[in-house]
Amino acid sequence: MTLSSKIPAKLLSKCLRWSKALGEFTDNETQISFIRKELPLLLTDKVFFVGILENIIKGDTYPDIRKATMFDNEVLLYIDPEHRFSMRLFLWEPGEFTPIHDHNSWGVIGPVTGELEVVKYKRENNGSSEEYANLTEIDRFKLQPGETDFTMPLNDGIHKTGNEGQYATVSVGIYGRSLKRPYINGFNIRNNQVYKIYSPKLKKKNLASQALEIF
Ligand SMILES: [Fe+2]
Repeated sequence: MTLSSKIPAKLLSKCLRWSKALGEFTDNETQISFIRKELPLLLTDKVFFVGILENIIKGDTYPDIRKATMFDNEVLLYIDPEHRFSMRLFLWEPGEFTPIHDHNSWGVIGPVTGELEVVKYKRENNGSSEEYANLTEIDRFKLQPGETDFTMPLNDGIHKTGNEGQYATVSVGIYGRSLKRPYINGFNIRNNQVYKIYSPKLKKKNLASQALEIF
């Protein structure tokens, strides 16, 4: 069964409309501003997200929580067949934050419930050394349900996000067309090291390939 055959009709028609619009824009800024205008209406659709959460609890085929994603709190809601964007749900434990990371595309994010904390960083050496990054915190704020923020690809979008509250929360991220890089960078602010984060599927493939080398 394909993803789109189980996707709620209302969401599918919204995603088809978004894909058509995004296909008409050529630059990241216009695409981001289109999604920032559209996303609040979805974020405030409590009935829709109650349905999604209930589907997850009962093990429905949509959304498919077995689908490999970069972060383990991430659930894929939609991938545009033209690869113009993807829609992802994030489930946050109380106190849970992502590692500091970059992205392979632009992204627009916002909470459905609770507050989504965003911490942004500037890379001072701007990638002159791939494994070393001196990061400075440049912004920190909390988004309320229905509010959005955006991020840019690679060094222009280094951030971490999370839930500082006392309850599990839900957020959504819309990500644009992805660069052909099979990983994202993670940043250790304590020792300035940069490390690669692969999806669990790719990580297993890479390790299997490495292990095979000494057989
Ligand atoms: Fe992110």
